[in-house]
Amino acid sequence: MPDPITSFGYRVVPESEKQSLVRDVFSSVASRYDLMNDLMSGGVHRLWKDALVEWLNPRPGWRVLDVAGGTGDIAFRIAGAVRRRGGAADIAVCDVNPDMLREGMRRAHLKGEGGMNWLCADAETLPVAAASIDAYTIAFGIRNVTHTERALAEARRVLKPGGRFLCLEFSRVEAAGLDVLYDRFSFSVLPRLGDAVTGDADAYQYLIESIRRFPAQAAFTKMVEKAGLSRVKVRNMMGGIAAMHSAWRL
Ligand SMILES: C[S@@+](CC[C@H](N)C(=O)[O-])C[C@H]1O[C@@H](n2cnc3c(N)ncnc32)[C@H](O)[C@@H]1O
Repeated sequence: MPDPITSFGYRVVPESEKQSLVRDVFSSVASRYDLMNDLMSGGVHRLWKDALVEWLNPRPGWRVLDVAGGTGDIAFRIAGAVRRRGGAADIAVCDVNPDMLREGMRRAHLKGEGGMNWLCADAETLPVAAASIDAYTIAFGIRNVTHTERALAEARRVLKPGGRFLCLEFSRVEAAGLDVLYDRFSFSVLPRLGDAVTGDADAYQYLIESIRRFPAQAAFTKMVEKAGLSRVKVRNMMGGIAAMHSAWRL
């Protein structure tokens, strides 16, 4: 039987190849990933991540799974938020790329965040027990997985009844005029910046193309609902450049 096809940015590739292509992208940029996020967004990604954790409102004692957690940005923020409430949470960062996780563990060491678990696994097949997690987060990760619907089904499976799903992802610009400016900036500036900082323009070309291919807010809402998650709410960030989808396992 022929291998089904999927998108890798604007390219069409066999499904069986996508994950290794995505892995190459993030391995190539891992050591410069955090610097590039700051340069590309002028630091705005920090505000979006803060907004995700504020909306999550994590509590001491929770078990939290940050999927596609990369270098730990979301997990560190959750740990900080829970500490400010006078407690601790059981936080695991899961990512398919060992280079991104290695960078995250290095940062955790520098920050004195010793208590986290770092899991190398695919969002589509999480090595996590069913109904065991209070909060599942995924930031700028879901557009990279090969089968979005399988990752969403896994999110539902691992969440406890009453558990929370929160996804932050680039989305569709809904503010008139901003879309044209944003497109120009993305396609002309970002690959060059990526080349200058990481030596890999193609990685950033992929990242932009994958953003454009990802479903818009309403379509992604339907996918989340189809996975069996409920009470989906969406918050746009900067006119829809990014959006957060919140949902619950009832
Ligand atoms: C853009 S980074 C986001 C990292 C981090 N969440 C952040 O916001 O800074 C995307 C991450 O998704 C990871 N990833 C891609 N496909 C994945 C998959 N199928 N399962 C788990 N992680 C995946 C990549 O390795 C990469 O670390």
